[in-house]
Amino acid sequence: MERISILGGRDKAGRREDLDLTLRRGDILSIVGPTGAGKSRFLEDLSCLAQGDTPTGRRVLIDGKPPADELRYALEGRLVAQLSQNMNFIMDLTVEEFIRMHGECRRPAQPDRMVERIIAAANRLTGEAIGAETPVTQLSGGQSRALMIADTGLLSPSPVVLIDELENAGVDRSRALELLVGEDKIVLVSTHDPVLALLGSRRLCFRGGAVWRVIETSPAEQRNAARMAAVNERFLELRDLLRNGATLEAEPFGDCCV
Ligand SMILES: Nc1ncnc2c1ncn2[C@@H]1O[C@H](COP(=O)(O)OP(=O)(O)OP(=O)(O)O)[C@@H](O)[C@H]1O
Ligand SMILES: [Mg+2]
Repeated sequence: MERISILGGRDKAGRREDLDLTLRRGDILSIVGPTGAGKSRFLEDLSCLAQGDTPTGRRVLIDGKPPADELRYALEGRLVAQLSQNMNFIMDLTVEEFIRMHGECRRPAQPDRMVERIIAAANRLTGEAIGAETPVTQLSGGQSRALMIADTGLLSPSPVVLIDELENAGVDRSRALELLVGEDKIVLVSTHDPVLALLGSRRLCFRGGAVWRVIETSPAEQRNAARMAAVNERFLELRDLLRNGATLEAEPFGDCCV
């Protein structure tokens, strides 16, 4: 696959969505909009390679053509990997069993090494270490998220990665993105976070169930984004201090905002 295109459908009121968007390998897009604006629905449309058969009526083309049914319904070697907003483990497996099961279809040369690498990567994303023997149902929200991110980043062959809400709680987002944003992947990140909103070279703005604007970032925006990221870093440090029971008597932002 070289490119994936999304053709507009209808918004929630049934009005036509004016959209003909083509994404190529290496593209990173942010998805922004108020709650309920249709961001998750858009990612679902991509994930299932919609063919006018979802509530939005959107259509997805692969290299300019509708995907063959085999591709649409194939469970292994899927085209699209999705980290969804509401993700819970319901299986009774340990972390190691989960990774092995998931990795089976990739047939790695060294399965033990693979398990180690994924757990190590997950542990670089989260404060509380995950052990191989921990049952997945006992992981905290942040730990589950970190495990899924490491698993997708290191194991998933999918050229398209969809991330619904890469929130701050419990995962180091910049490391998570480094892991997920492979050179030749297409990555879409839906977010309410202003720093992540400015991460992509383009962002899709949603309103009422449809894309209403596609914005290409400018150099000025990029400069502002770097400053916002610095403020955000500091903000996260402050959060950790407070989480760990410290008091905050000094000026919190010092010179990071000047
Ligand atoms: N074009 C559309 N036509 C019909 N229904 C839609 C359309 N777009 C979204 N919806 C529906 O509207 C509801 C809210 O959309 P969605 O969950 O995508 O919002 P969201 O932007 O992800 O919100 P949040 O930021 O809270 O996660 C969902 O039930 C979704 O299926
Ligand atoms: Mg959503």
